[in-house]
Amino acid sequence: MELNLLRVLSLVLLNFPADLFGYVVIPSTNPLAVGQNVTLNLVPPSNINVGTWSHETSVIVIFYPNGESVTNTYKNRVTFNRTSLELSIRYLQLNDSGQYILQGTNPDLNAAIPLSVQEPISNVTLRANAIDLVELNNTAVLTCSTSSGTSLSYRWLNGSSVVTASGVVQLGEGNSTLTLNRVTRYDEGPFRCKVFNGISNETSQPIHLNIRYGPSNPTLVVNPNMGPGNTAYRTASNITLSCSAQSNPPASYMWKFNGAFLKEQSPQLTLQNIRVNQTGNYTCLAYNNVTLRYAIINTIINIVEPITVVVLNSFGKLPILDESFTLRCEVTVPVDHIHWLMNGKLLPLNNRTGYSMDNNSIVITSIQFSDSGKYQCEAFNAVSNMTSMAYTLVVNYGPLVVNISLQGPTNNGTGFKYTMTCSANSQPASEYQWKFNNQSLLKPGTLLVVDKSVKNIGNYTCVATNSVTKIKMSKTISLDFTEPSPAPPIQCSFGLMLMLLIALSLRFD
Ligand SMILES: *[C@@H]1O[C@H](CO)[C@@H](O)[C@H](O)[C@H]1NC(C)=O
Ligand SMILES: *[C@@H]1O[C@H](CO)[C@@H](O)[C@H](O)[C@H]1NC(C)=O
Ligand SMILES: *[C@@H]1O[C@H](CO)[C@@H](O)[C@H](O)[C@H]1NC(C)=O
Ligand SMILES: *[C@@H]1O[C@H](CO)[C@@H](O)[C@H](O)[C@H]1NC(C)=O
Ligand SMILES: *[C@@H]1O[C@H](CO)[C@@H](O)[C@H](O)[C@H]1NC(C)=O
Ligand SMILES: *[C@@H]1O[C@H](CO)[C@@H](O)[C@H](O)[C@H]1NC(C)=O
Ligand SMILES: *[C@@H]1O[C@H](CO)[C@@H](O)[C@H](O)[C@H]1NC(C)=O
Ligand SMILES: *[C@@H]1O[C@H](CO)[C@@H](O)[C@H](O)[C@H]1NC(C)=O
Ligand SMILES: *[C@@H]1O[C@H](CO)[C@@H](O)[C@H](O)[C@H]1NC(C)=O
Ligand SMILES: *[C@@H]1O[C@H](CO)[C@@H](O)[C@H](O)[C@H]1NC(C)=O
Ligand SMILES: *[C@@H]1O[C@H](CO)[C@@H](O)[C@H](O)[C@H]1NC(C)=O
Ligand SMILES: *[C@@H]1O[C@H](CO)[C@@H](O)[C@H](O)[C@H]1NC(C)=O
Repeated sequence: MELNLLRVLSLVLLNFPADLFGYVVIPSTNPLAVGQNVTLNLVPPSNINVGTWSHETSVIVIFYPNGESVTNTYKNRVTFNRTSLELSIRYLQLNDSGQYILQGTNPDLNAAIPLSVQEPISNVTLRANAIDLVELNNTAVLTCSTSSGTSLSYRWLNGSSVVTASGVVQLGEGNSTLTLNRVTRYDEGPFRCKVFNGISNETSQPIHLNIRYGPSNPTLVVNPNMGPGNTAYRTASNITLSCSAQSNPPASYMWKFNGAFLKEQSPQLTLQNIRVNQTGNYTCLAYNNVTLRYAIINTIINIVEPITVVVLNSFGKLPILDESFTLRCEVTVPVDHIHWLMNGKLLPLNNRTGYSMDNNSIVITSIQFSDSGKYQCEAFNAVSNMTSMAYTLVVNYGPLVVNISLQGPTNNGTGFKYTMTCSANSQPASEYQWKFNNQSLLKPGTLLVVDKSVKNIGNYTCVATNSVTKIKMSKTISLDFTEPSPAPPIQCSFGLMLMLLIALSLRFD
């Protein structure tokens, strides 16, 4: 009879609309661990005439004015307070999870709460399909497991950051596996998995992946470093080429010079007391014996003899006015370029000055006085520069005009004498020779002194010779100290006519 009544009541109550009048059921704890106790209370508290507490569709207790009846299966696990309607359930098990519903009439209400009973997590273990992997070749699969625990959720950590799924990172098996497709060097971890449920959490031991990669990004540094773009080194210096590449395990190194292997098998190649013939293409090969991959990097080294001697000399003949002249800068080692200086300033090249790179010389096609000065050449190559001693350019010329000045007669106590002084403008100074009536006097020098004597009357010629220009020029004067006879009448002689004609023709030339 009582059972029938219960059934009728519960059928009526179960068909009530839910959550009437804003009543809620508040559990003492939720979620709960297996074995725990829970107390369920109605909020706000209310007096209900007739009602039930149920778990999902099973009635736990039915209550009515001044009484209650607990279903047999719950009898020794449940305490019910008819006044407060509080329901306590002890020793909860996993299958006690689910909706707990309080339904009543007078007032009419229906309030429910889902309870979750969970097993605590223990022994979280992380395993990898392999620890030693090759970059881009292998896939890592990490599996997170527990010995116990229910309602598990997983979080993956790489170091301290959370791993989320992306193109190459996949989470599977309810997030309990992490798959890294085609691992990279940045996937070494440490990886950990953290397992959660409502009542506990636990983090696995870390796993480090040993990703074998490279060699990649090879670099080649030459010491000493001569600055960007400068590959030139002086002969006899010592240089070290240092090669490195990102590689796991560390790469082994080999070297080539102009394509031929060298004996050296270390990351450093030291070249001592270098010679010009070591100029060329140096190659570093980095090799990873696990990935079986190579990385290669080249550098060009130029070994240049420094300039130690620069001599500036005239080439061919000496500088002569209006003639061409060559200055040659002599350097014993190859040079890149030569600067020409005149009186300490860069020589302005003009249409008379030509520069020839072949033999490091300048040619002045027609020397002018303005070309006089101190010349220097400055030779440059990649490792040195040097300036020559000065070459003083003096323009050689002339003689242009020869003059004879006649002084006297003067008496210095040994009789009356005439002094003839010959001069000529030339560079270098001319040498002078005297002739008397076209007979050489074998008397060099600018001065010629003759006695005032009838035998010395005649034509004196001074011949000026420039030893450099090889130009000879002469001037003749007549010495005649007899009393002048009365002037002869001017006769239009044939001889005079001829002289006039010659003079005129010379003027018109
Ligand atoms: C559950 O209640 C019983 C009886 O009151 C008590 O003995 C036990 O310690 C409680 N369990 C927990 C986990 O509180
Ligand atoms: C039942 O609940 C009422 C009201 O909260 C309280 O006064 C009473 O002591 C409780 N009865 C038992 C047996 O705990
Ligand atoms: C922890 O889990 C591993 C693998 O699941 C198992 O081999 C081991 O015995 C477990 N340890 C304990 C204490 O449960
Ligand atoms: C797996 O984790 C993601 C967040 O990383 C979460 O959105 C998803 O619901 C989880 N899946 C499962 C089955 O727990
Ligand atoms: C994990 O569990 C510890 C106790 O073991 C707790 O202090 C901590 O708050 C929990 N962390 C999370 C995120 O639940
Ligand atoms: C180069 O190295 C050798 C041997 O270590 C040393 O004797 C020499 O002085 C070095 N030369 C220079 C220019 O540093
Ligand atoms: C240097 O040699 C390597 C091979 O050894 C070659 O690949 C490279 O082109 C060369 N570089 C130059 C600038 O000649
Ligand atoms: C450079 O020349 C020297 C002799 O002058 C020779 O001994 C050496 O083998 C040469 N080095 C190279 C790389 O050709
Ligand atoms: C690879 O090279 C490393 C050092 O670079 C060495 O220790 C290892 O023995 C080598 N392994 C093989 C398989 O040659
Ligand atoms: C990596 O993969 C490539 C192509 O699949 C293969 O040729 C190579 O042998 C692999 N390397 C290693 C070290 O397994
Ligand atoms: C050289 O240049 C000067 C002016 O700078 C000019 O007067 C002269 O005619 C030029 N000579 C030749 C041969 O071009
Ligand atoms: C010439 O060489 C000296 C060192 O000998 C250096 O200090 C100077 O800078 C060089 N001059 C030029 C223009 O390269």
